[in-house]
Amino acid sequence: MLYPIARPLLFSLPAERAHHLAFGALRFAAAMPGGRALLSAMYGPPRDPALVVRAMGLDFPTPVGLAAGFDKDAIGFDALLALGFGFVEVGTLTGQAQPGNPQPRMFRLPADRALVNRLGFNNGGAAGALPRLRARDHRRGIVGVNVGKTKLVPEAGAIEDYVTSTRLLAPHADYVVVNVSSPNTPGLRDLQSVEKLAPLLRAVGEAIDESTAESARRPPLLVKIAPDLADDDVLAVADLAEKLGLAGIVATNTTIARTGLASPKERVEAAGVGGLSGAPLKARSLEVLRLLRKRLADRLTLVSVGGIENDDDAWQRILAGASLVQIYTGFVYGGPDTPGRIARGLLARARAEGFAKVEDAIGQGA
Ligand code: FNR
Repeated sequence: MLYPIARPLLFSLPAERAHHLAFGALRFAAAMPGGRALLSAMYGPPRDPALVVRAMGLDFPTPVGLAAGFDKDAIGFDALLALGFGFVEVGTLTGQAQPGNPQPRMFRLPADRALVNRLGFNNGGAAGALPRLRARDHRRGIVGVNVGKTKLVPEAGAIEDYVTSTRLLAPHADYVVVNVSSPNTPGLRDLQSVEKLAPLLRAVGEAIDESTAESARRPPLLVKIAPDLADDDVLAVADLAEKLGLAGIVATNTTIARTGLASPKERVEAAGVGGLSGAPLKARSLEVLRLLRKRLADRLTLVSVGGIENDDDAWQRILAGASLVQIYTGFVYGGPDTPGRIARGLLARARAEGFAKVEDAIGQGA
């Protein structure tokens, strides 16, 4: 509603500052008396059983979630849920707190409706986020926790670092994602090779079992992969995830590729290295989803992310086999009504195409 006015102001600021300003304003609004209800009324999707997707033992009020990296430190998930996201993935959280890369480290490519970031997992660490996740009201929406590796920890200590975060946070997470796909932590993406990924996922799975042994629910485990994997490697991860009994796969993270961009070459070069997100990622992200669906059918939950901007994109992913979708860059460009708008669009599409529920359309175009 106000975003046509707010966006040019925000976009006149450096991207990371604009993020903190906008996110701060949202948290402020949500903290006011009646703030969350007002946000939901202004922006949220309708509470409609036809939007509910049951996946991994959870009832998602809508299949449109917020991707990892927006609320790295789990400081605003309630506000984001109030805005109309069906679920929020917090993190990436690492075993130790760390500052991330030097600024500036986040850039807009407006001509491509894209972002480039090399934040490098700036976060207060798993222990820092623990009190906020522990204090969560579990009735109020679904919050997943995305874990990654502390930069200073060498590869030999990687498993222990993921396990530290998992032990602390799994008891307070609705699901856990092992992130081995961010391009901004040296060596991280090498963990996607099956030889390295298998022991990592096994150890994280055990850490979930141990840390939640006393509780009623064991949060499902997913792995998040890069769009830059070769097709065979995507399939190898799919087979491994199935073999190890993972609940699902989040596909995809940002890309290190810079192909097919409309932005001036100088602008792309000025942004420098990092992960590219947004519209340019759309085609490959969809392609990876299709590969996964073909291999796994509906045996694992597929969470599709990358370049989703509107309900057309989200509907296409659902038809291609995604039970859930996530957005980040589309939210930055689209504004606060984006998750509600996409959810409403999905509802309309389902009805128009003769599905009683959005859920019934999952994989129907595969
Ligand atoms: C991200 N992304 C991300 N992913 C992740 O697993 N952990 C993280 O900490 C981050 N951090 C992050 C920061 C910024 C500024 C952006 C733009 C993205 C990746 C994100 O979750 C998503 O996978 C990609 O951005 C693709 O989706 P969109 O942005 O095209 O909708």
